[in-house]
Amino acid sequence: EVHQREYLSGGEMKTWNGEVSEVYSPVGFWGEDGTFKRKLIGTYPVCTEKEAFEALDAALEAYDNGRGEWPTMSIANRIKCMERFIFKMSEQRTLVVKLLMWEIGKSYADSAKEFDRTIEYINATIDALKDIDRQSSRFEMAEGLVAQIRRSPLGVVLCMGPFNYPLNETFTTLIPALIMGNTILFKPPKHGTLLHYPLLRAFQESFPKGVVNTIYGRGAVVTPGLMASGKVNVLAFIGSSKVANDLKKRHPKINRLRAVLSLDAKNAAIVTKHADLNQAVSECILGALSFNGQRCTAIKLIFVQKEVADEFLKLLSDAVANLKFGLPWDKDVKLTPLPEPNKTEYLTDIVNDAIAKGARVVNENGGETSASFFFPAIVYPVNENMKLYREEQFGPVIPVIPYEDIEEPITYQIDSPHGMQVSIFSNDAKEISSLIDPFVNLVSRVNINSQCQRGPDVFPFTGRKDSAEGTLSVHDALRSFSIRSLVTTKMTETNKN
Ligand code: G3H
Repeated sequence: EVHQREYLSGGEMKTWNGEVSEVYSPVGFWGEDGTFKRKLIGTYPVCTEKEAFEALDAALEAYDNGRGEWPTMSIANRIKCMERFIFKMSEQRTLVVKLLMWEIGKSYADSAKEFDRTIEYINATIDALKDIDRQSSRFEMAEGLVAQIRRSPLGVVLCMGPFNYPLNETFTTLIPALIMGNTILFKPPKHGTLLHYPLLRAFQESFPKGVVNTIYGRGAVVTPGLMASGKVNVLAFIGSSKVANDLKKRHPKINRLRAVLSLDAKNAAIVTKHADLNQAVSECILGALSFNGQRCTAIKLIFVQKEVADEFLKLLSDAVANLKFGLPWDKDVKLTPLPEPNKTEYLTDIVNDAIAKGARVVNENGGETSASFFFPAIVYPVNENMKLYREEQFGPVIPVIPYEDIEEPITYQIDSPHGMQVSIFSNDAKEISSLIDPFVNLVSRVNINSQCQRGPDVFPFTGRKDSAEGTLSVHDALRSFSIRSLVTTKMTETNKN
């Protein structure tokens, strides 16, 4: 068990003596009363608005209107601090990976990948920053002016990540914001809080005082005041669009607040009669069920052309039956317990809604639950009257829709409030090229014969409509958390040389 009493603010590890929140793992045991009990694995501080404002003051002081040690530090020295952080973070790998498994039920393989991907992301960010630095040492000349174009920080950045990638996605905003010279307030996600605790000292020992500050407590209590203060310059949030919109509403100068958001999505896959069905199935399984479908990039709806629907469903059901269920540390496990309480009930409801409206679960044991496990349900035929057509299930339910006319999936995408990604499965080159154009202007990434996904991390990651604001990726994130600023000099006879 990890009982956290400390939090990082103003360069100090402060001790909290107030209320704490208990953390329960999705892994648990059956009680004597026959009900499933989640295992208590630790506690963390439930700080108040007062501590949140102290953290904001510390971040403002460290930024000092752009004159602080961190925003004025040379890029080479900022990189040295970041390298020190990588070293200290790496020392905590075993514990952080263990906490990822216990807190959010992610398999060992995926937890280790999340940690290692984060270290790779930081290293790649350092390389990308070196590129930017080289560019800013070039001078541009026009109309008698010589300009040095720099990338300058924006101020205080509030970073909040999601529970499904509590470490990696939090850091895909925090790290670029930090290395660009901003100062940081960061609030770990509710599920996936404890795993940040071992990293607080690494932050403290790697960066100047007040540059990285933590916010603990109930989101509804600690974040509105920060936003309403008007002193947060960037909101970097990965989570639901509802929460993001609530937060933005509380910023008085909404138009001047920069938001970097990654939000809801309901990505469709389209399997045409010209697809290699085995390939389509293995990619759809990865896309729909990696980390139990709890990814914004997951495939959350599959359109299959009528002629091949039966064969596709049979192959898909067989593939699901071969996936291993188990605890996060079990060998080769693919499906694990769900961290959100009441999630199995929600998924059962949404499947029952489809059944009541004429669909059926086509795979054996589909939709069965035990403890915090939910056996993947392939639901067919889904139509627009069912909740599964629009609602983001964020879990192991695969709605499948038979289509006759390609206009049907196109219409789905046009009408969708989301616009993240689509996957198209076909081996007919003409068909593929005819489908790229209609979709590429509706979503932000079209995947041909592969699942939807964020990576590789050097690729831009964004979305349209309610799916995102701003762009993340190793290179784009550095731009998102900075502004181009100029220092120009007028050429005169005396300074020409
Ligand atoms: O949950 C949203 C993540 O950005 C998904 O990332 O595609 O690498 O799993 P991923």
